[in-house]
Amino acid sequence: MTIDEAIGIVETVLAKGRLSKVEEIIFRQSWEGLSYLEIAKSSGYDTGYLKDTGSSLWRSLSQAFGDKVSKNNFQLILKRHAQTQTSTVSIKPNIPSSHHLQTTQCDWGEAIDTSIFYGRNAELTTLEKWIVSDRARLVMLLGMGGIGKTTLSIKLAEQIQQKFTHVIWRSLRNALTIQDILTDLLAHLSNGQAIALPESVNGKISLLINYLRASRCLVILDNTETILRAGDRAGNYCPGYEGYGQLFRCIAETTHQSCLVLTSREKPRGLATYEGLTLPVRSLYVLGLTTEAAQYIFQAKGLCISSEQGKVLVERYGGNPLALKITATNIQELFDGNVCQFIYQGAALFGDVWQLLEQHFERLSDLEKHIMYVLATRKAWVSIPELLDDIAFVSLRDLLEALESLKVRSLIEKATLTTPEKTSPCFMQQPAVMEYVSSKLLEQTNLALATLSC
Ligand SMILES: Nc1ncnc2c1ncn2[C@@H]1O[C@H](COP(=O)(O)OP(=O)(O)OP(=O)(O)O)[C@@H](O)[C@H]1O
Ligand SMILES: [Mg+2]
Repeated sequence: MTIDEAIGIVETVLAKGRLSKVEEIIFRQSWEGLSYLEIAKSSGYDTGYLKDTGSSLWRSLSQAFGDKVSKNNFQLILKRHAQTQTSTVSIKPNIPSSHHLQTTQCDWGEAIDTSIFYGRNAELTTLEKWIVSDRARLVMLLGMGGIGKTTLSIKLAEQIQQKFTHVIWRSLRNALTIQDILTDLLAHLSNGQAIALPESVNGKISLLINYLRASRCLVILDNTETILRAGDRAGNYCPGYEGYGQLFRCIAETTHQSCLVLTSREKPRGLATYEGLTLPVRSLYVLGLTTEAAQYIFQAKGLCISSEQGKVLVERYGGNPLALKITATNIQELFDGNVCQFIYQGAALFGDVWQLLEQHFERLSDLEKHIMYVLATRKAWVSIPELLDDIAFVSLRDLLEALESLKVRSLIEKATLTTPEKTSPCFMQQPAVMEYVSSKLLEQTNLALATLSC
């Protein structure tokens, strides 16, 4: 074991991640067999300070390894730890850090072209901090279809790839089984070496975790909603795909130095325990683009729009870049490029934008659909007591769960409204979603009238 490999292991097991500068000096020079006095002479630090810092480092390592670690035995304990970690399969630790130069092995799978990309600086900064500095182990990019999750995940991976030894980007659009995805990831991470793959999902997950410990890997799984059940509260797994839940939980709860990024229209269940701003799981709700970004999108399609027009369109489509791109094409093809005329005629939804919302709506439970109809009818912010009044058969618990699920699916927005009497959470739909649901409601009413008159 080299000193860099040893430091890599230590930074993996320590809750705080990286060693401080002085801790690294103590670690490196103690590894070479130097006493605190000798380290003090060569580094210029005070001997007492080095002893205190050293004691606290050995204490943290004792906690992490569940064994008494001291300046005298830390090499032995690290070597023993490395042996037990690699007993299932021999994996050479490959630690990317300032300690040595490394090259990243990237496998982008079917990642799309992202050369046209505007804004998202704040999102990229947050995500980089979570993954690179905070060492989050599982990060979810959530939001409605077309909002830009896939694009953002690719930009993110391009931006931080140097910090990893492996970057793997995969889409779950074709509903790959858990066995297939694990086999695929392991084939990549073993660098094409012939390894004996365990048959069970559990065995493959353990092996994968070993690789995620030994190397710093960034794995991105796109379109995670494909393996989640439709017509149900958001986030439950499709039958036969529960193994993904097991994989995500293991990645979240086990100590390793890698990160899994999921993109999804719905939030997978079972990870809440590990989620929080100081915990290993983080969620970013991807929201709409700004007016300025909308202007760029239109410009790339050959249409020049004013900032007022951009504002109207961003409000209408919630800043959804896919809806904006489709709209720009529609304006060119159906309105001869006349943006004013399009805005004036009012209708926001047809063609592909309609289809996008249809895909979302079809996945809702009956209660979720009912709530959407109530919100579309009221056309204003609606409070929880008002919803309870309107939906006679629903319990408060079911209502709250359904609202949470709709929020996670990005189909409703929440605001806290304050009146002289009280402050309460209220819900509303974006204009385009409202237009879609109102049309659905009209369709249903017409259908019911037609059936009655038959
Ligand atoms: N920041 C951006 N700037 C310009 N275009 C963007 C941006 N983000 C996304 N787009 C464009 O919007 C479209 C939808 O983006 P993307 O496929 O990333 O959405 P998504 O959230 O992954 O959707 P889905 O849930 O359907 O997978 C793409 O054509 C993409 O090029
Ligand atoms: Mg996508």
